[in-house]
Amino acid sequence: MNELDFSGKQALVVGGSSGIGNGIAQAFRARGARVAVCGTRAKAGDYSAEEGSHLEGLDYAQLDVSNPQAIDKYAPSFAKLDVLVLAQGAVIYRRGEFEMDGFRKVLEVNLMSLMACATKFHAMLAASKGSLIIVSSTAAYHSTKGNPAYNASKTGAVGLTRTLGEAWAGNGIRVNGIAPGLVDTKMTKATTANPKRLEGALERIPLKRLGTPADMAGAALFLASPLSSYIIGQTLVVDGGLIL
Ligand SMILES: NC(=O)c1ccc[n+]([C@@H]2O[C@H](COP(=O)([O-])OP(=O)(O)OC[C@H]3O[C@@H](n4cnc5c(N)ncnc54)[C@H](OP(=O)(O)O)[C@@H]3O)[C@@H](O)[C@H]2O)c1
Repeated sequence: MNELDFSGKQALVVGGSSGIGNGIAQAFRARGARVAVCGTRAKAGDYSAEEGSHLEGLDYAQLDVSNPQAIDKYAPSFAKLDVLVLAQGAVIYRRGEFEMDGFRKVLEVNLMSLMACATKFHAMLAASKGSLIIVSSTAAYHSTKGNPAYNASKTGAVGLTRTLGEAWAGNGIRVNGIAPGLVDTKMTKATTANPKRLEGALERIPLKRLGTPADMAGAALFLASPLSSYIIGQTLVVDGGLIL
């Protein structure tokens, strides 16, 4: 038996239009799953490989999760769901998260929408005895001075993972999470495209390289597979040793 064969399985990756979510989506597709993804833009053609988007073979739909009504209205293209990955995330730089508008916006995307999406698909996941995987961040485990909303939302995501893990175990749904360290995506360009900041960041990572979406996908495949059948409510830190 190949526990990492997802043939016949249906996955949905919210935030699968680029970066980490996109890498996770393509990893499930490569192992036989049918994979739907969502992002903020109108159509798949609005994304480019240069920004970390590889939408070939994925079923793309627009969904802005900062709008709770849009989540309610989102009509999936599938009738059963085995794996739900919530990889949506936003950050506001230049002290925008110290303004209440910015703080609320980030909490809505990074935390409130996790609960809204998880709840929307609870029945489908229960029917398939499926897995829910929440992407938080190593930011949940230390202060991030300029980003109070990002930090609070990601800390909340770890708590939500733990709590839904317990609450939904009885429904046969395994809820777990991934806390990435520093991964090269369009979200982290402010650091990775600046040679001095990049050098400083690499210095702090014991593996001396940035994470890749494929590194994160390895953890997601494991958490959705029977290889992790006795793990619930946990968030795996996947950071090359950054927060050690
Ligand atoms: N990169 C890192 O170092 C790092 C570290 C720790 C945690 N994370 C987390 O990993 C997740 C993925 O981020 P990433 O680094 O891969 O960045 P990314 O490439 O910018 O991906 C973010 C994803 O979230 C989607 N998204 C953002 N706002 C949304 C909204 N309002 N409605 C629906 N979708 C929305 C984006 O859609 P569009 O493509 O349409 O913008 C995209 O698919 C996030 O939760 C992030 O916080 C990243």
